[in-house]
Amino acid sequence: MTTAYADTDEVIYLDHQATTPVDPRVLDAMLPYLTTAYGNPSSPYALGRQAASAVKTARRQLRDLIGAAADTEIIFTSGATESDYLAIVGTARALGDVGHHVITTAIEHKAVLAACQDLAAQGFQITIVPPGADGIIDPADIASAITPATVLVSVMHANNEIGTIQPIAEIAQVTRDRGVALHTDAAQSIGTVNFRVDDLGVDLASLTAHKIYGPKGVGALYIRQNTIRPVPLVSGGGQEQGLRAGTLNVPGIAGLGAAGAILAGQRQADADRITGLRDQLLTRLRDAMPGIRVNGTMSRRLPGNLNIVIPGTDASQLINGLSGVAVSAGSACDAGHSEPSHVLTAIGLDGPAARASIRIGLGRGTTARDIAIASERITKAVLHSVR
Ligand SMILES: Cc1ncc(COP(=O)(O)O)c(C=O)c1O
Repeated sequence: MTTAYADTDEVIYLDHQATTPVDPRVLDAMLPYLTTAYGNPSSPYALGRQAASAVKTARRQLRDLIGAAADTEIIFTSGATESDYLAIVGTARALGDVGHHVITTAIEHKAVLAACQDLAAQGFQITIVPPGADGIIDPADIASAITPATVLVSVMHANNEIGTIQPIAEIAQVTRDRGVALHTDAAQSIGTVNFRVDDLGVDLASLTAHKIYGPKGVGALYIRQNTIRPVPLVSGGGQEQGLRAGTLNVPGIAGLGAAGAILAGQRQADADRITGLRDQLLTRLRDAMPGIRVNGTMSRRLPGNLNIVIPGTDASQLINGLSGVAVSAGSACDAGHSEPSHVLTAIGLDGPAARASIRIGLGRGTTARDIAIASERITKAVLHSVR
């Protein structure tokens, strides 16, 4: 195939579910706290107060974004992995006198599944609810899994591999009726999907900056006030109301706040534009390769996500031969593992289909030109790899 683009060295980044580039406005918001305003926010003098004020601003920005009722409902962490662990292990330990049963789903991120495994090793019973073939969890399945011993339900808002968006508000009705706490991992959703804690009815929510054009290594846990106080995972200087000890990552937190504030202004416009481009990409790929199949429903899905089976290919080999487009096989966090993705397996794919699946993630910087180049390059690489 000859194309106008085939020979350029430019790499088209289509892996925004793995991570996102830092928005220049976010970088601007962070820089002062790495250079001149370097104080420790716990210090009483002006430099310290300046840093504390940056943390306060960021807390307010996140609070506004998710509709939290108080600044104290936001606890800064090192990212969604830590937030998930504090939410799940910390809450289960705090409620250990009430019961020893936690419910989660088969399509959660490893951060959630591993936290549940650790609880299992400590004597908790874990129920793992499977999704439908469409990648959606049925709230009725959560309802029937709840027992008098259940203390926590954890269901992600949007899946990091297949992008499916879970019916969290309906699940919250179930958990509220039964008096059980609900945690959601919103790492993937918050960048393109409206996320308000009261509309969704969640008690705990994990966030991370690097999926919303902020820096890596910083995130937050929302904890609804007057409901739960997780047992902290580390002890030390008493920061974050004693829930997360350690000197605050002020530049990272300022970046997370700025990233959240930017979303408040442009998330809907981003989502609409990215959905249009995603649909164009699917049309182009289908025109070129009529046999491809989409994993997970298209009707409740992150705007930027496509996860497709390209029959007859091996995704890892395909990606190795696809130097001009950054996409992933399964989830980025699974990279290097030859086991088929647990998410694709959970929605019913067999090994060969799961291994022939790639995840494509569009983002804020993706253009129509990127889509044209990427679809040509992917098609060319497929033709080459199945030859
Ligand atoms: C759904 C989900 N949860 C948790 C994480 C982990 O987030 P972090 O890298 O901030 O620890 C990720 C990132 O891959 C994710 O997609």
